[in-house]
Amino acid sequence: GKGAYPYYMIKEIDEQPAVLRRLIQTYQDQNGQFVVDDNLKAALQNSDRLYIVACGTSYHAGWVGKNLFEKQINIPTEIHLASEFAYNPPLMSEKPFFIFLSQSGETADSRQALVLVNQLGHPSLTITNVKGSTLSREATYTLLLHAGPEIAVASTKAYTAQITVMAILAAAVGQTQQHGLDLAHELSIAATNMETILAEKDQIKAWVDENLLETPNAFYIGRFLDYYVSMEAALKLKEISYIQTEAFASGELKHGTIALIEEGTPVIAIISQAKVDKHTRGNLEEVKARGAKTCVIATQDFAQPGDQFVLPKTHALLTPLVIAVMVQLIAYYTSLGKGLDVDKPRNLAKSVTVE
Ligand code: M6R
Repeated sequence: GKGAYPYYMIKEIDEQPAVLRRLIQTYQDQNGQFVVDDNLKAALQNSDRLYIVACGTSYHAGWVGKNLFEKQINIPTEIHLASEFAYNPPLMSEKPFFIFLSQSGETADSRQALVLVNQLGHPSLTITNVKGSTLSREATYTLLLHAGPEIAVASTKAYTAQITVMAILAAAVGQTQQHGLDLAHELSIAATNMETILAEKDQIKAWVDENLLETPNAFYIGRFLDYYVSMEAALKLKEISYIQTEAFASGELKHGTIALIEEGTPVIAIISQAKVDKHTRGNLEEVKARGAKTCVIATQDFAQPGDQFVLPKTHALLTPLVIAVMVQLIAYYTSLGKGLDVDKPRNLAKSVTVE
């Protein structure tokens, strides 16, 4: 049950540091090395291209995973929406390896894609929260998220667990090529940083109450990983608050989207990555000049005076883990503040078993 919590969503948001720590322990051997099944490791090492297939929040986690696989194990990685993949499969490489991300392991769109992959005889891995689920049974390999049941329709802990498991998988596969990254250490810092944000709920709620409860629309902007986490931030906010929220790669604003900015439109910028931080700030100035009500969520190393939320420093590859908690809380307090049913938004089911 949800115990003293008013909603499952906030309970599940709160559980994330514990889930992260559980994953570090579960996937480490006695020597503190991250390990996965030898055959799975060999299959990945033998592949010339990874194809991540997923829907919704899991798809957004996939973008973060793509960066981890490309940076940590040097395998080009494509990311596909399951509903597109199943009916229009991409041109495949000689030795493709498929990674299905699915909290429930029951999503029909993803299953359709896996059926096709199996027909073609390619190896696959399902990363899921549900042991024995359809996608886990039908894939060649399975890794579990160990996040405990996720009840709220809005997925939260599954997203951060998926990113964590992909980081662990990359570390386990690429042990010789890790660029000096002590992943266990960096993940445990991320868990502590999540706790810091969870301790600041009141400030987040106060900001939401003042800025989001009346708006019909909102934007998240960022570049690179900050864009990827913006996509998840926007989905979270729209699905439980019914505010039309879109995420934009901030460089794209001037190619069209900036036309939507009016006096008072909330624009939330995420800034946690070197090289792109200044550009996103520049884009923020452009929307501000058109009347946008701006908000900056920055990690400590990129923060500037006046930023609304400064998050603790986290390894550059892992910032989405920490920023996710922040944007989940923004969505949660918006839904709560509007008096909506946080756990059961209209028109949605927890697990989408129709195509
Ligand atoms: O169980 P899955 O991870 O396959 O589910 C995928 C999506 O249906 C799911 O993430 C959905 O987008 C959530 N409602 C997002 O909060």
